[in-house]
Amino acid sequence: MTHPILITGGTGFIGSHTVVALAEAGQPVVILDNLCNSSAKVLDRLARLNASPIEFVQADIRDSAALDTLFARYQFAGVIHFAGLKAVGESVAQPLRYLENNVSGTLNLLQAMDRANVRRIVFSSSATVYGDPVSVPIPETAALTATNPYGRTKLMCEDALRELHAADPRWRIAILRYFNPVGAHESGLLGEAPNGIPNNLMPYITQVALGQRAHLQIFGNDYDTPDGTGVRDYLHVSDLAAGHLAALRALNEPKLLTVNLGTGRGVSVQDMVDTFARVNGVPIPHQVVPRRPGDVAQCLADPRQAKALLNWETLLDLDRMCADAWRWQSMNPQGFDTPL
Ligand code: NAD
Ligand code: WQD
Repeated sequence: MTHPILITGGTGFIGSHTVVALAEAGQPVVILDNLCNSSAKVLDRLARLNASPIEFVQADIRDSAALDTLFARYQFAGVIHFAGLKAVGESVAQPLRYLENNVSGTLNLLQAMDRANVRRIVFSSSATVYGDPVSVPIPETAALTATNPYGRTKLMCEDALRELHAADPRWRIAILRYFNPVGAHESGLLGEAPNGIPNNLMPYITQVALGQRAHLQIFGNDYDTPDGTGVRDYLHVSDLAAGHLAALRALNEPKLLTVNLGTGRGVSVQDMVDTFARVNGVPIPHQVVPRRPGDVAQCLADPRQAKALLNWETLLDLDRMCADAWRWQSMNPQGFDTPL
Protein backbone atom coordinates (compact mmCIF):
# COMPACT_ATOMS: atom_id res chain seq x y z
CA MET A 1 0.00 0.00 0.00
CA THR A 2 1.82 3.12 -1.12
CA HIS A 3 -1.24 5.33 -0.93
CA PRO A 4 -1.68 6.83 2.53
CA ILE A 5 -3.99 5.57 5.23
CA LEU A 6 -6.23 8.09 6.94
CA ILE A 7 -6.12 7.74 10.72
CA THR A 8 -9.01 9.46 12.48
CA GLY A 9 -8.27 10.03 16.17
CA GLY A 10 -4.58 9.61 15.32
CA THR A 11 -3.29 11.89 18.08
CA GLY A 12 -5.11 9.82 20.73
CA PHE A 13 -3.71 7.02 22.89
CA ILE A 14 -4.19 4.04 20.56
CA GLY A 15 -4.09 6.11 17.36
CA SER A 16 -0.65 7.59 18.08
CA HIS A 17 0.85 4.16 18.73
CA THR A 18 -0.72 2.91 15.52
CA VAL A 19 0.82 5.80 13.57
CA VAL A 20 4.22 4.59 14.82
CA ALA A 21 3.47 0.98 13.86
CA LEU A 22 2.45 2.00 10.34
CA ALA A 23 5.44 4.32 9.92
CA GLU A 24 7.76 1.48 10.95
CA ALA A 25 6.14 -0.66 8.26
CA GLY A 26 6.75 2.07 5.66
CA GLN A 27 3.06 2.92 5.41
CA PRO A 28 2.38 6.67 4.96
CA VAL A 29 -0.42 8.16 7.05
CA VAL A 30 -2.52 11.30 7.33
CA ILE A 31 -4.01 12.12 10.74
CA LEU A 32 -7.37 13.75 11.29
CA ASP A 33 -8.31 14.68 14.85
CA ASN A 34 -10.31 17.50 16.42
CA LEU A 35 -8.06 17.39 19.54
CA CYS A 36 -11.07 17.17 21.87
CA ASN A 37 -9.23 14.52 23.91
CA SER A 38 -5.62 14.76 22.76
CA SER A 39 -2.79 17.23 22.31
CA ALA A 40 -1.12 18.57 19.16
CA LYS A 41 2.14 18.03 21.09
CA VAL A 42 1.76 14.33 20.23
CA LEU A 43 2.94 15.36 16.76
CA ASP A 44 6.34 16.47 18.15
CA ARG A 45 6.69 13.11 19.85
CA LEU A 46 5.80 11.32 16.61
CA ALA A 47 8.46 13.37 14.84
CA ARG A 48 11.03 12.23 17.44
CA LEU A 49 10.06 8.67 16.61
CA ASN A 50 10.40 9.32 12.86
CA ALA A 51 6.67 8.80 12.49
CA SER A 52 5.48 12.24 11.40
CA PRO A 53 2.27 12.06 9.42
CA ILE A 54 2.26 13.42 5.87
CA GLU A 55 -0.34 15.83 7.14
CA PHE A 56 -2.19 16.56 10.36
CA VAL A 57 -5.66 17.98 9.84
CA GLN A 58 -7.45 19.44 12.82
CA ALA A 59 -11.03 18.66 11.89
CA ASP A 60 -14.11 16.86 13.10
CA ILE A 61 -15.38 13.61 11.60
CA ARG A 62 -18.84 15.22 11.58
CA ASP A 63 -17.61 17.91 9.18
CA SER A 64 -18.52 16.56 5.71
CA ALA A 65 -16.92 19.43 3.83
CA ALA A 66 -13.59 18.93 5.63
CA LEU A 67 -13.73 15.21 4.86
CA ASP A 68 -14.56 15.79 1.19
CA THR A 69 -11.64 18.21 0.87
CA LEU A 70 -9.29 15.68 2.45
CA PHE A 71 -10.54 12.77 0.36
CA ALA A 72 -10.12 14.91 -2.78
CA ARG A 73 -6.53 15.79 -1.84
CA TYR A 74 -5.37 12.23 -1.20
CA GLN A 75 -6.15 8.90 -2.73
CA PHE A 76 -6.42 6.94 0.51
CA ALA A 77 -5.80 3.20 0.57
CA GLY A 78 -8.11 3.02 3.57
CA VAL A 79 -9.13 4.47 6.91
CA ILE A 80 -8.42 3.43 10.48
CA HIS A 81 -11.18 5.00 12.49
CA PHE A 82 -10.29 5.66 16.14
CA ALA A 83 -12.03 9.02 16.57
CA GLY A 84 -14.65 8.86 19.27
CA LEU A 85 -15.52 9.68 22.86
CA LYS A 86 -14.82 6.84 25.28
CA ALA A 87 -15.70 7.72 28.90
CA VAL A 88 -18.45 5.39 30.08
CA GLY A 89 -19.63 7.54 33.01
CA GLU A 90 -19.72 10.67 30.89
CA SER A 91 -21.78 8.83 28.28
CA VAL A 92 -24.43 8.04 30.91
CA ALA A 93 -24.67 11.75 31.75
CA GLN A 94 -24.48 12.94 28.12
CA PRO A 95 -25.97 10.24 25.88
CA LEU A 96 -26.89 12.60 23.05
CA ARG A 97 -23.35 13.96 22.86
CA TYR A 98 -21.99 10.42 22.63
CA LEU A 99 -24.52 9.33 20.01
CA GLU A 100 -23.91 12.45 17.98
CA ASN A 101 -20.13 12.26 18.12
CA ASN A 102 -19.59 8.52 17.80
CA VAL A 103 -22.55 7.39 15.70
CA SER A 104 -23.30 10.44 13.55
CA GLY A 105 -19.55 10.97 13.20
CA THR A 106 -19.00 7.42 11.98
CA LEU A 107 -21.95 7.56 9.55
CA ASN A 108 -20.64 10.85 8.21
CA LEU A 109 -17.19 9.35 7.71
CA LEU A 110 -18.61 6.29 5.94
CA GLN A 111 -20.62 8.52 3.59
CA ALA A 112 -17.54 10.58 2.74
CA MET A 113 -15.57 7.38 2.11
CA ASP A 114 -18.32 6.08 -0.16
CA ARG A 115 -18.40 9.32 -2.15
CA ALA A 116 -14.63 9.10 -2.58
CA ASN A 117 -14.69 5.38 -3.49
CA VAL A 118 -12.55 4.48 -0.48
CA ARG A 119 -14.20 1.37 0.92
CA ARG A 120 -11.65 -0.07 3.33
CA ILE A 121 -12.10 0.65 7.04
CA VAL A 122 -10.73 -0.66 10.31
CA PHE A 123 -13.10 0.27 13.13
CA SER A 124 -12.33 0.58 16.86
CA SER A 125 -14.96 -1.44 18.66
CA SER A 126 -14.74 -2.67 22.21
CA ALA A 127 -15.28 -5.68 24.43
CA THR A 128 -18.01 -3.55 25.98
CA VAL A 129 -20.33 -4.89 23.22
CA TYR A 130 -20.38 -8.22 25.11
CA GLY A 131 -21.96 -6.59 28.18
CA ASP A 132 -21.86 -8.96 31.15
CA PRO A 133 -20.63 -12.11 29.39
CA VAL A 134 -22.32 -15.44 30.12
CA SER A 135 -18.94 -17.14 30.12
CA VAL A 136 -15.27 -16.37 29.49
CA PRO A 137 -13.19 -16.42 27.35
CA ILE A 138 -15.59 -14.64 24.99
CA PRO A 139 -15.76 -15.71 21.33
CA GLU A 140 -16.81 -13.20 18.65
CA THR A 141 -20.07 -15.14 18.25
CA ALA A 142 -21.21 -14.31 21.79
CA ALA A 143 -24.41 -12.31 22.29
CA LEU A 144 -24.05 -8.55 21.91
CA THR A 145 -25.63 -5.99 24.19
CA ALA A 146 -25.12 -2.48 25.49
CA THR A 147 -25.01 -1.64 29.18
CA ASN A 148 -24.36 2.10 28.80
CA PRO A 149 -24.65 4.78 26.06
CA TYR A 150 -20.94 4.49 25.14
CA GLY A 151 -21.37 0.76 24.54
CA ARG A 152 -24.54 1.50 22.60
CA THR A 153 -22.60 3.76 20.23
CA LYS A 154 -20.13 0.96 19.52
CA LEU A 155 -22.93 -1.51 18.90
CA MET A 156 -24.76 0.94 16.63
CA CYS A 157 -21.60 1.57 14.60
CA GLU A 158 -20.96 -2.17 14.32
CA ASP A 159 -24.57 -2.65 13.12
CA ALA A 160 -24.16 0.13 10.56
CA LEU A 161 -21.00 -1.53 9.24
CA ARG A 162 -22.74 -4.90 8.99
CA GLU A 163 -25.69 -3.35 7.14
CA LEU A 164 -23.33 -1.52 4.83
CA HIS A 165 -21.42 -4.66 3.96
CA ALA A 166 -24.64 -6.58 3.34
CA ALA A 167 -25.87 -3.84 0.98
CA ASP A 168 -22.59 -3.25 -0.83
CA PRO A 169 -20.15 -6.17 -0.71
CA ARG A 170 -17.38 -4.07 -2.25
CA TRP A 171 -16.59 -2.85 1.27
CA ARG A 172 -13.59 -4.19 3.20
CA ILE A 173 -14.38 -3.85 6.89
CA ALA A 174 -12.55 -4.96 10.02
CA ILE A 175 -14.40 -4.56 13.31
CA LEU A 176 -11.78 -4.86 16.04
CA ARG A 177 -13.05 -5.44 19.56
CA TYR A 178 -10.33 -4.28 21.94
CA PHE A 179 -10.16 -5.63 25.46
CA ASN A 180 -8.16 -3.47 27.93
CA PRO A 181 -5.28 -1.61 26.25
CA VAL A 182 -2.57 -0.40 28.66
CA GLY A 183 1.16 0.34 28.58
CA ALA A 184 2.94 2.90 26.47
CA HIS A 185 5.55 3.22 23.75
CA GLU A 186 8.84 1.75 24.94
CA SER A 187 10.62 5.08 24.31
CA GLY A 188 8.55 6.81 27.00
CA LEU A 189 7.55 9.41 24.39
CA LEU A 190 3.94 8.30 23.87
CA GLY A 191 1.34 7.11 26.34
CA GLU A 192 -2.06 7.64 27.86
CA ALA A 193 -2.74 11.15 29.20
CA PRO A 194 -6.30 11.30 30.51
CA ASN A 195 -7.86 14.63 31.41
CA GLY A 196 -8.80 14.92 35.09
CA ILE A 197 -9.28 11.92 37.34
CA PRO A 198 -8.55 8.73 35.37
CA ASN A 199 -11.48 6.34 34.93
CA ASN A 200 -9.28 3.39 34.03
CA LEU A 201 -7.10 1.27 36.27
CA MET A 202 -3.62 1.65 34.77
CA PRO A 203 -3.52 5.45 34.48
CA TYR A 204 -4.86 5.65 38.02
CA ILE A 205 -2.09 3.35 39.25
CA THR A 206 0.63 5.35 37.49
CA GLN A 207 -0.67 8.60 39.01
CA VAL A 208 -0.64 6.99 42.48
CA ALA A 209 2.92 5.77 41.82
CA LEU A 210 3.90 9.33 40.95
CA GLY A 211 2.31 10.67 44.12
CA GLN A 212 -0.27 12.70 42.19
CA ARG A 213 -3.03 10.68 43.92
CA ALA A 214 -2.87 9.32 47.45
CA HIS A 215 -4.12 5.79 46.91
CA LEU A 216 -5.91 3.50 44.49
CA GLN A 217 -9.46 2.49 45.27
CA ILE A 218 -10.02 -1.15 44.39
CA PHE A 219 -13.63 -1.40 43.31
CA GLY A 220 -14.80 -4.54 45.12
CA ASN A 221 -13.08 -7.70 46.36
CA ASP A 222 -16.23 -9.79 46.56
CA TYR A 223 -16.47 -10.87 42.92
CA ASP A 224 -16.61 -14.51 41.95
CA THR A 225 -12.95 -14.48 40.87
CA PRO A 226 -9.86 -16.17 42.36
CA ASP A 227 -8.96 -13.22 44.64
CA GLY A 228 -12.34 -11.48 44.60
CA THR A 229 -11.20 -8.47 42.52
CA GLY A 230 -12.28 -7.86 38.91
CA VAL A 231 -10.51 -9.80 36.17
CA ARG A 232 -9.70 -8.26 32.78
CA ASP A 233 -7.71 -9.00 29.65
CA TYR A 234 -5.04 -6.28 29.49
CA LEU A 235 -2.98 -5.98 26.34
CA HIS A 236 -0.03 -3.76 25.49
CA VAL A 237 -1.00 -0.78 23.33
CA SER A 238 1.92 -1.52 20.97
CA ASP A 239 0.57 -5.04 20.38
CA LEU A 240 -2.83 -3.48 19.78
CA ALA A 241 -1.30 -1.04 17.29
CA ALA A 242 0.27 -3.96 15.41
CA GLY A 243 -3.17 -5.55 15.23
CA HIS A 244 -4.34 -2.63 13.09
CA LEU A 245 -1.58 -3.16 10.57
CA ALA A 246 -2.48 -6.85 10.49
CA ALA A 247 -6.14 -5.97 9.94
CA LEU A 248 -5.34 -3.58 7.08
CA ARG A 249 -3.31 -6.30 5.40
CA ALA A 250 -6.07 -8.86 5.91
CA LEU A 251 -8.48 -6.54 4.07
CA ASN A 252 -6.84 -7.42 0.76
CA GLU A 253 -10.22 -8.15 -0.76
CA PRO A 254 -13.85 -7.29 0.02
CA LYS A 255 -14.88 -8.87 3.30
CA LEU A 256 -16.18 -8.20 6.78
CA LEU A 257 -13.99 -9.34 9.65
CA THR A 258 -14.95 -9.19 13.32
CA VAL A 259 -12.07 -9.92 15.65
CA ASN A 260 -11.29 -9.73 19.36
CA LEU A 261 -7.93 -8.19 20.20
CA GLY A 262 -6.80 -9.46 23.58
CA THR A 263 -4.45 -11.97 25.18
CA GLY A 264 -6.98 -14.46 26.55
CA ARG A 265 -5.24 -14.23 29.94
CA GLY A 266 -7.00 -12.91 33.02
CA VAL A 267 -5.39 -10.40 35.37
CA SER A 268 -7.14 -9.25 38.54
CA VAL A 269 -6.95 -5.75 39.97
CA GLN A 270 -4.86 -7.16 42.83
CA ASP A 271 -2.53 -8.92 40.33
CA MET A 272 -2.08 -5.63 38.50
CA VAL A 273 -1.24 -3.70 41.68
CA ASP A 274 1.22 -6.39 42.81
CA THR A 275 2.88 -6.71 39.40
CA PHE A 276 3.26 -2.95 38.99
CA ALA A 277 4.86 -2.64 42.44
CA ARG A 278 7.23 -5.56 41.85
CA VAL A 279 8.32 -4.61 38.34
CA ASN A 280 8.85 -0.93 39.06
CA GLY A 281 9.84 -1.06 42.71
CA VAL A 282 7.15 1.49 43.57
CA PRO A 283 4.48 0.69 46.17
CA ILE A 284 0.84 1.36 45.24
CA PRO A 285 -1.13 2.26 48.37
CA HIS A 286 -4.66 0.96 47.96
CA GLN A 287 -7.89 0.37 49.79
CA VAL A 288 -10.90 -1.75 48.92
CA VAL A 289 -14.15 0.14 48.38
CA PRO A 290 -17.55 -1.07 47.14
CA ARG A 291 -18.01 -2.27 43.57
CA ARG A 292 -18.28 0.33 40.80
CA PRO A 293 -21.80 0.21 39.33
CA GLY A 294 -21.88 -1.46 35.93
CA ASP A 295 -18.63 -3.41 36.36
CA VAL A 296 -18.54 -7.10 35.49
CA ALA A 297 -16.58 -9.77 37.37
CA GLN A 298 -14.58 -11.01 34.39
CA CYS A 299 -14.00 -10.02 30.78
CA LEU A 300 -11.56 -12.08 28.73
CA ALA A 301 -11.06 -12.52 25.00
CA ASP A 302 -11.01 -15.72 23.09
CA PRO A 303 -8.13 -14.53 20.87
CA ARG A 304 -8.06 -17.45 18.40
CA GLN A 305 -9.91 -15.70 15.58
CA ALA A 306 -7.28 -12.92 15.53
CA LYS A 307 -4.55 -15.52 15.07
CA ALA A 308 -6.49 -17.35 12.37
CA LEU A 309 -7.72 -14.34 10.38
CA LEU A 310 -5.05 -11.70 11.01
CA ASN A 311 -2.07 -13.85 11.96
CA TRP A 312 -1.85 -11.59 15.01
CA GLU A 313 -1.28 -12.37 18.64
CA THR A 314 0.08 -10.42 21.58
CA LEU A 315 3.83 -10.55 22.25
CA LEU A 316 4.30 -8.30 25.29
CA ASP A 317 3.57 -9.55 28.82
CA LEU A 318 2.13 -7.87 31.91
CA ASP A 319 5.57 -7.01 33.31
CA ARG A 320 6.32 -5.11 30.11
CA MET A 321 2.93 -3.31 30.22
CA CYS A 322 3.67 -2.14 33.77
CA ALA A 323 7.27 -1.14 33.00
CA ASP A 324 6.32 0.85 29.91
CA ALA A 325 3.33 2.55 31.57
CA TRP A 326 5.57 3.66 34.42
CA ARG A 327 8.37 4.84 32.11
CA TRP A 328 5.85 7.00 30.26
CA GLN A 329 4.28 8.44 33.43
CA SER A 330 7.54 9.07 35.26
CA MET A 331 9.16 10.73 32.21
CA ASN A 332 6.03 12.82 31.59
CA PRO A 333 4.49 13.90 34.90
CA GLN A 334 2.49 16.58 33.02
CA GLY A 335 1.62 14.26 30.15
CA PHE A 336 2.28 15.82 26.76
CA ASP A 337 2.79 19.24 28.39
CA THR A 338 6.05 17.93 29.85
CA PRO A 339 8.86 19.60 27.86
CA LEU A 340 10.75 17.23 25.57
P1 NAD B 1 -8.46 8.73 22.83
O1 NAD B 1 -9.51 9.61 23.42
O2 NAD B 1 -7.08 8.84 23.34
O3 NAD B 1 -8.43 8.94 21.24
C1 NAD B 1 -9.56 9.27 20.49
C2 NAD B 1 -9.23 10.48 19.62
O4 NAD B 1 -10.37 10.83 18.85
C3 NAD B 1 -8.84 11.71 20.44
O5 NAD B 1 -7.58 12.18 20.00
C4 NAD B 1 -9.95 12.71 20.18
O6 NAD B 1 -9.47 14.04 20.17
C5 NAD B 1 -10.46 12.25 18.82
N1 NAD B 1 -11.86 12.57 18.53
C6 NAD B 1 -12.95 12.31 19.29
N2 NAD B 1 -14.06 12.73 18.67
C7 NAD B 1 -13.67 13.25 17.47
C8 NAD B 1 -14.36 13.85 16.39
N3 NAD B 1 -15.68 14.03 16.43
N4 NAD B 1 -13.65 14.25 15.31
C9 NAD B 1 -12.31 14.11 15.28
N5 NAD B 1 -11.60 13.56 16.28
C10 NAD B 1 -12.27 13.15 17.37
O7 NAD B 1 -9.00 7.24 22.94
P2 NAD B 1 -8.26 5.86 22.65
O8 NAD B 1 -8.11 5.16 23.93
O9 NAD B 1 -7.09 6.07 21.79
O10 NAD B 1 -9.41 5.11 21.86
C11 NAD B 1 -9.47 5.09 20.44
C12 NAD B 1 -10.73 4.35 20.01
O11 NAD B 1 -10.71 3.04 20.55
C13 NAD B 1 -12.02 5.00 20.49
O12 NAD B 1 -12.98 4.86 19.46
C14 NAD B 1 -12.40 4.16 21.69
O13 NAD B 1 -13.78 4.16 21.91
C15 NAD B 1 -11.90 2.80 21.27
N6 NAD B 1 -11.62 1.90 22.40
C16 NAD B 1 -10.76 2.32 23.39
C17 NAD B 1 -10.49 1.48 24.46
C18 NAD B 1 -9.61 1.92 25.59
O14 NAD B 1 -9.67 1.30 26.67
N7 NAD B 1 -8.75 2.92 25.42
C19 NAD B 1 -11.09 0.21 24.51
C20 NAD B 1 -11.93 -0.18 23.48
C21 NAD B 1 -12.19 0.67 22.43
C1 WQD C 1 -10.49 -2.40 35.06
C2 WQD C 1 -10.67 -3.06 36.42
C3 WQD C 1 -12.37 -2.01 37.76
C4 WQD C 1 -10.25 1.80 38.29
C5 WQD C 1 -13.40 0.20 30.50
C6 WQD C 1 -14.63 0.45 29.67
C7 WQD C 1 -14.60 -0.39 28.43
C8 WQD C 1 -13.29 -0.20 27.67
C9 WQD C 1 -12.08 -0.31 28.54
C10 WQD C 1 -13.55 1.37 25.89
C11 WQD C 1 -12.13 -3.20 36.84
C12 WQD C 1 -11.01 -1.86 38.40
C13 WQD C 1 -10.60 0.52 37.91
C14 WQD C 1 -9.99 2.06 39.66
C15 WQD C 1 -10.41 -0.25 40.17
N1 WQD C 1 -13.19 1.10 27.07
N2 WQD C 1 -10.67 -0.49 38.83
N3 WQD C 1 -10.08 1.02 40.54
O1 WQD C 1 -14.01 -1.22 33.27
O2 WQD C 1 -12.75 -3.13 32.19
O3 WQD C 1 -13.35 -1.17 30.84
O4 WQD C 1 -12.24 0.52 29.71
O5 WQD C 1 -14.16 0.70 25.12
O6 WQD C 1 -15.70 -0.02 27.68
O7 WQD C 1 -15.78 0.12 30.45
O8 WQD C 1 -11.58 -0.94 32.55
O9 WQD C 1 -9.61 0.12 33.55
O10 WQD C 1 -11.91 1.03 34.12
O11 WQD C 1 -11.21 -1.19 35.02
O12 WQD C 1 -10.48 -1.14 41.00
O13 WQD C 1 -9.71 3.21 40.05
O14 WQD C 1 -10.07 -2.21 37.41
O15 WQD C 1 -13.35 -2.24 38.73
O16 WQD C 1 -12.24 -4.41 37.55
P1 WQD C 1 -13.01 -1.67 32.32
P2 WQD C 1 -11.06 -0.14 33.81
